[in-house]
Parts: sequence; structure tokens; C-alpha cells
Amino acid sequence: IKIAAVVPAAGVGSRMQVAHPKQYLKIADKTILEHTLNKLGQLSELDKIVVAVSETDDYFKALPLLDARVTAVNGGKERADSVLNALQALAQDKPDWVLVHDAARPLVSLEDMQTLIAQCVADGEGGILAARVKDTIKRGDTHSLETVPREQLWQALTPQFFPYQALKGALEQALDNAVVITDEASAMEWARHPVKLVSGRSDNIKITTPEDYDLACFLISKQES
Ligand code: C5P
Repeated sequence: IKIAAVVPAAGVGSRMQVAHPKQYLKIADKTILEHTLNKLGQLSELDKIVVAVSETDDYFKALPLLDARVTAVNGGKERADSVLNALQALAQDKPDWVLVHDAARPLVSLEDMQTLIAQCVADGEGGILAARVKDTIKRGDTHSLETVPREQLWQALTPQFFPYQALKGALEQALDNAVVITDEASAMEWARHPVKLVSGRSDNIKITTPEDYDLACFLISKQES
């Protein structure tokens, strides 16, 4: 089977309150994007890794030599547009499966990625890494309106792993229909494809705020020691 990876890395990181996009912040001696690509690079199953970068991005070209499987495409307005651009760039390759992973999640474990791939391929259906919600969840604006039962709540992580053609079709249709898509699974659910929930480590955080960055620095130093 043929598996490609897609890495959306075209966000501007406005919630990080720094001058350059968050994926280019350094942790130890490498940018967050390099840490993420190194993790994906450990998956020998991948034959291509397509990174979606912003058209105005000058940082990507300046990165030191990356894995030979890595190529770049232009990102789009929203994350889903960036992913779709990368999927369209893979049309010639015709991968069977595609593994989509956020540039901003450098902490993913190799074992979790391998488990996700193995379970999905074995069952012939797509899935995502996810973590059961641990906190008590409130719905509301300035005041709590209700406490949402958490038994069935999961936090969606990445990677998200789906059959290539099905994901491309679902994203195209969902975007055409102006469906709000914040991850690949939302498009697959909308198109009524199965989305398996594969339990993953909750320290696979998405670096969004300065607090996340501090936590990621600590976790990476722990992983590397
Ligand atoms: O903004 P958020 O943290 O949800 O972004 C998740 C991932 O999607 C990040 O790695 C970001 O770089 C990427 N992204 C993208 N294209 C956009 C917006 C976000 O590739 N237009």
C-alpha cells in the first residue's frame, strides 16, 4: 500500500503573539516544523511528505536540508484549503492512504502514529488520534448554561488518516457547500464516511498559545534527554 503525508503549515499563528508564524519558533536547536517533520520522517511507511506553506513564507526555503521525501505546495485561506491543495498535488502519485498531521504538533509519538495506521489499514476505514476529555465541560458565553456530559466527548488530535480518494472528495464537497471544517474528520463525518477514534497520548498538544509553547519546550527536552 502507498501512504503519503500532508502537513498543513500555512497558518499565521496570530494567537501566539509573535512576529513570525509559530511553526518557525525554535525549541532547542530546531524550529517546531523541523521537529514535526523529523517525527514523520521516522515513519518508513511514507513515500511522500507534502508540506503546505503560505505563499508569502520565506522561512521554509531557509530550513536546513529536510527529509528527501519532503516537498512543498502553497497553502490556502483556511486549514482545509491548505490540506486540499496538498491532496491535489498528490493526484499523480495516487496514494491509497493519506496521513494529515499539523505542523504545530511536534510531540506526537511514533508509536501512536503506527497504531493509527495499523488499525485503520486492518479495518479498511479511516480514523484519527483522539484523547478522551478529562475536564468538566461547560457550554456558555459569560455564564455557564449547562454542563455537557463528557462520557462521549473526545478531543480530536492529529494525525488523521484516511483513504486518499475519499478524503479528497469529502473535502472538495464540504468546501463547496461551505461546511465549517476544522479537521479532516469533520469533512469525512459530513460525507458520512466512518471515522475511527484511536486513543492517543494527550501530550500530543497543538502549539497555539505562549503557554502551549512553554509546555512543548519542557516536553521536548524530556523526550530528548
Ligand atoms: O490555526 P490552527 O492552530 O488550527 O492550525 C492548525 C494547523 O493548520 C497549523 O499547523 C497551521 O499552520 C495550519 N494551517 C494551514 N493553513 C491555514 C491555516 C492553518 O496550513 N490557512
